[in-house]
Amino acid sequence: SVASSPAQRSAEADRLPTNRPAGCPFDPPPELSRFRAEEPVRRLTYPDGHRGWLVSNHELSRTVLADTRFSSRMELRRTAVPRPGLTPLLGRPAAPGMFIAMDPPEHTRYRRLLTGQFTVRRMRLLEPRIEQIAEQHLDAMVQAGPPADLVAAYALPIPSLVICELLGVPYADRDVFQRDTATLLRLDATAEQVRAASESVGAFMADLVRHKRAEPADDLLSGLIATGELTDEELAGVSFLLLVAGHETTANMLALGAFALINHRDQGHADQLAALCGDPTAAEHAVEELLRYLTIIQFGTTRTALVDIHLGDQLIRAGETLTLALPSANRDPDKFADPDTLDLTRSAQGHLAFGHGVHQCLGQQLARIEMRIGYRALFRRFPELRLAVPAEEVPLRHDMNIYGVHRLPVTW
Ligand code: HEM
Repeated sequence: SVASSPAQRSAEADRLPTNRPAGCPFDPPPELSRFRAEEPVRRLTYPDGHRGWLVSNHELSRTVLADTRFSSRMELRRTAVPRPGLTPLLGRPAAPGMFIAMDPPEHTRYRRLLTGQFTVRRMRLLEPRIEQIAEQHLDAMVQAGPPADLVAAYALPIPSLVICELLGVPYADRDVFQRDTATLLRLDATAEQVRAASESVGAFMADLVRHKRAEPADDLLSGLIATGELTDEELAGVSFLLLVAGHETTANMLALGAFALINHRDQGHADQLAALCGDPTAAEHAVEELLRYLTIIQFGTTRTALVDIHLGDQLIRAGETLTLALPSANRDPDKFADPDTLDLTRSAQGHLAFGHGVHQCLGQQLARIEMRIGYRALFRRFPELRLAVPAEEVPLRHDMNIYGVHRLPVTW
């Protein structure tokens, strides 16, 4: 073997740790706790060899997210993020509508228009529909009989149909929409499959925008069109972003959350699960705690410094890339007591699972409603829900930006 230089060895040691502890699928890689305690801003070597920074505690992650001198623009990044996932779809520079990859003031323009459409009223109207969707899928599970894959039978279709409701996809087009998006969001899709599917979903969204211009209704897309501020291309882009940002995230929270809840119940916390099913306030706390504890954006989020900035003990140079280890920030003992314990009764307020600052998740209220309804309906219907395979055999999404389970075989 070739002897490596000290510089190569240190670059190797500065890779992002990605291995979760054996037998503990919900805990982040253990090295992250050491980094957080000893060196919360430390060098990070990206897969392409580029050197940037890894931020691993709560306070400094929040500081970066709150400071727009740390840019979200993809074209400023000189490196691939740890695992790119769907990020190529956003474009370099960001394609029209992909405001998650824009900075103020471009970002602000979109965000203001979108916030005007994510109203409390619209979210309230969605609740009974989400309940209906959840119950229908549980009925189908009962009808087919055990076992079932909870991902395919429940966790994926819920966010898909909720996006249909939100955008106002006509009932007649839902099969096409679900077929197209299912390919795009197949939890094990290759980059090539993602590219092909994204073209067909893009075409679907463009058609949908034309249809809504011709026949406006009481939905988010029609509301955006009525502002008169966005082009068709921008509207299709926004719809695409909502689909991509809201789908895989919520699906994985539902499935991984169900796995964690089954485990938690069996470790002597049946009372906490029962409370989630019964009491609305308990359900709200439980959802926040699951968001904190699981922090499924497992490789964190990434920014690029626009100017030289001091962060903790380090000087970040203009043009350098930072990755924020959100799972580690959300297990920071300086912020949350006994952080590695799942406690559905605690207040997990201040967690960073939805990010922070100007890009903080636009769909967070909707995601919370989907989870509250999704977990409650599931465990009310199947209080004895259990895994149909040994826990070690559940296929985990180790290598995907968004953590979770590829499948969750369950029985009742
Ligand atoms: C942004 C997480 C559900 C739409 C974000 C960010 C995070 C996040 C961490 C910030 C990214 C950054 O700072 O770079 C999650 C999680 C979800 C979820 C964990 C589910 C549990 C949803 C849903 C929707 C949505 C349901 C829409 C229907 C968005 C959008 C942005 C975003 C549009 C970009 C906001 C901006 O740039 O201003 N999400 N999300 N998300 N999320 Fe979510």
